[in-house]
Amino acid sequence: MRLFQFCSLALYLRFLCVVAAPLEASSCPAGLGSLAAKYPPNALPSPEGLHLKFVVLGVGTQNYICVGGDDASEPGTIGAVAQLYDIGTRLNTDPHAQSKISPLSGRALVSASKHRLEGYLKSEGYDRRLGSHFFSQNRTQHSTPCPIAVVTKKNATDAPKAAFPGLAGEGAMQWLRLVDDGMSVDGIDTVYRIETAGGSKPASCKGRKGDFEVPYAAQYWMYGGAA
Ligand SMILES: *[C@@H]1O[C@H](CO)[C@@H](O)[C@H](O)[C@H]1NC(C)=O
Ligand SMILES: *[C@@H]1O[C@H](CO)[C@@H](O)[C@H](O)[C@H]1NC(C)=O
Repeated sequence: MRLFQFCSLALYLRFLCVVAAPLEASSCPAGLGSLAAKYPPNALPSPEGLHLKFVVLGVGTQNYICVGGDDASEPGTIGAVAQLYDIGTRLNTDPHAQSKISPLSGRALVSASKHRLEGYLKSEGYDRRLGSHFFSQNRTQHSTPCPIAVVTKKNATDAPKAAFPGLAGEGAMQWLRLVDDGMSVDGIDTVYRIETAGGSKPASCKGRKGDFEVPYAAQYWMYGGAA
């Protein structure tokens, strides 16, 4: 079970949020009616009947560990850390959104590796940072001024073959459908982690010792019922 949690500073104590960096004050992005039609096709159960509320880009690392020096063993998952940016607000009014969605995560990942992420995001109008995401073995938190989503993984499907495989060809992580645990606010019901770039762990611990990070980027498309 993986938990994703988006929460506000006001709910800091209630949800034990870890806020990795000071958050800029900001209001929630508006609804995303026109972008909803551009949801990338995939094999996950569709968001039919739900309303697209937020589309957030996450850029960071997936963190893994190899213990015991056994080359044949599989790395364990210890967590993930990412910065979150509002891409939905801009894409919703961009006439070229359709062609930008798919390459966006890979571009962000490459830009980040060259220390040019801020410049890339700014040039595209995606530079509104919504907060931080922290995932440990036992709990996951997206800390943002809004929205709040606490969701559990329900369905997974492999990323498309054309997905950006990562800076060292690690492979794009699976696409996921995650559903509300009953604790979300801002009306979030279902979150799709899609358009993944990189982030996959190696098949074995061969040549690895201790913990290591695999850079990744992904888009979180967040849905809810009618407002
Ligand atoms: C996670 O939870 C398990 C069982 O509840 C516990 O044994 C383990 O120490 C926890 N791990 C961390 C990193 O807190
Ligand atoms: C998605 O997950 C739900 C709940 O785990 C399951 O009932 C359903 O069969 C899954 N659907 C697909 C298409 O995998």
